[in-house]
Amino acid sequence: MHAPAPVGESAALLESLVERIDVGVFAVDRAGTLVLWNRFMAVHSGKSRADTLGKNLFALFPELPRRWLEKKLESVFVLGNNAFTLWELRPYLFRFPHHRPITGGLEAMRQNVTFMPLRTSGGEVTLVCGTVFDYTDTAMAQDRLHDAIAALSREKEAQGQLIIKLEAAQNQLLQSEKMASIGQLAAGIAHEINNPVGFVNSNLQTLKKYCQQMLGLIAAYQPAEARIDNPAMLAEISRIKQALDIEFLQEDLPALIKESEDGLFRIKKIVEDLKDFSHVNESDWQYADLNAGLDSTLNVVWNEVKYKATVDKNYGQLPAVECLAAQLNQVFMNLIINAVQAIDESRGMGTIALSTGHQDAWVWVEVKDSGQGMSEEVQKRIFEPFFTTKPVGKGTGLGMSVSYNIVQKHHGRIDLDSLPGAGTRFRIWLPVSQRAAAP
Ligand SMILES: Nc1ncnc2c1ncn2[C@@H]1O[C@H](COP(=O)(O)OP(=O)(O)OP(=O)(O)O)[C@@H](O)[C@H]1O
Ligand SMILES: [Mg+2]
Repeated sequence: MHAPAPVGESAALLESLVERIDVGVFAVDRAGTLVLWNRFMAVHSGKSRADTLGKNLFALFPELPRRWLEKKLESVFVLGNNAFTLWELRPYLFRFPHHRPITGGLEAMRQNVTFMPLRTSGGEVTLVCGTVFDYTDTAMAQDRLHDAIAALSREKEAQGQLIIKLEAAQNQLLQSEKMASIGQLAAGIAHEINNPVGFVNSNLQTLKKYCQQMLGLIAAYQPAEARIDNPAMLAEISRIKQALDIEFLQEDLPALIKESEDGLFRIKKIVEDLKDFSHVNESDWQYADLNAGLDSTLNVVWNEVKYKATVDKNYGQLPAVECLAAQLNQVFMNLIINAVQAIDESRGMGTIALSTGHQDAWVWVEVKDSGQGMSEEVQKRIFEPFFTTKPVGKGTGLGMSVSYNIVQKHHGRIDLDSLPGAGTRFRIWLPVSQRAAAP
């Protein structure tokens, strides 16, 4: 066991500790007069004990937040409790230059300061002691940490963007791969269907002619019946006519042929779509007037449109556009037919607005309808080949995928704007010249 140090010696030890400790220690009386000032304070402030003791704290250090600090000190004198200031809230009280090289924009020592009441043996608080802790290193580390976190989150953000772009690119790749393989399939099917459709069509035309001739012959025989005086023969003819229901047959035969022709026309149209879809018929590039193309297309489909919608035209002045005009017309047709089909007749006439415009090196063609609109789901799938929401026989689901391909070929794009119940707007953007647009 150590013997306790004599009183005078322990006071000297304590004083030496306060003097040498690497923490600022000072004390003031109630009037703000300094009564203690250790070496740390002297070194960092550049003011010695002789410069400070007996002097007013605020007079010596005008940078101190006087009103705030006076209140703080007063509360320690009155309440007798410790009080603090933290560097994170108030970077410093004394403006001490930091004694290590200053980096990271810190120009002054960051400080935590604690104020403690010092009591007389009677318990009265006569002095307040302040301890100043140097937190500059922590602050610098924290600043660096903040910078690193910010850089990391910027990087993360950039990575997120990159992932989105990658996903989009992958989707596009998948889409175009799908398109390419379906294109090959479609070209094959179109070719296979084209031949039988060709001879069925040709035979049907002949059949139609023969039927007309036979019906003509029957019609010619009709008046001759009256001249037949063989009752058995007459009875036989009448029996056959009745069994055949010859009147109905004469009426139905042309109708059947007409229906078959319509059916064949539809098959031909599908084959054409399939061929376009698979780029089989690459016709020549030319400079064309898209307003005129839109008009002629509207004429072609006018029969479908006129009972269901009024058409508002709002054409801008367009330069001649380098394009595959026939194919663009097909795009316009698909859009107009889709617009018509989206309109519910039972709610009266709808409207279809056709507009065009010109902006810098681009022109646009817009088809807007007052139809039923599309859900998000439908909008996502609309360019997929064979995607249709229409009943069997009405839609093949090729219109938009064909259109998409044609617009792609022109280095253009299709904007789509649609809300269920609020109609749909397609806007096709096309470069005026292909040379400017080709990548
Ligand atoms: N203007 C529109 N308003 C509402 N829905 C539309 C519109 N245009 C296209 N759609 C939706 O997109 C689907 C695909 O259209 P797309 O033109 O490719 O095929 P389709 O019209 O169904 O058949 P096809 O054009 O081959 O006869 C349609 O079935 C329909 O659901
Ligand atoms: Mg369509």
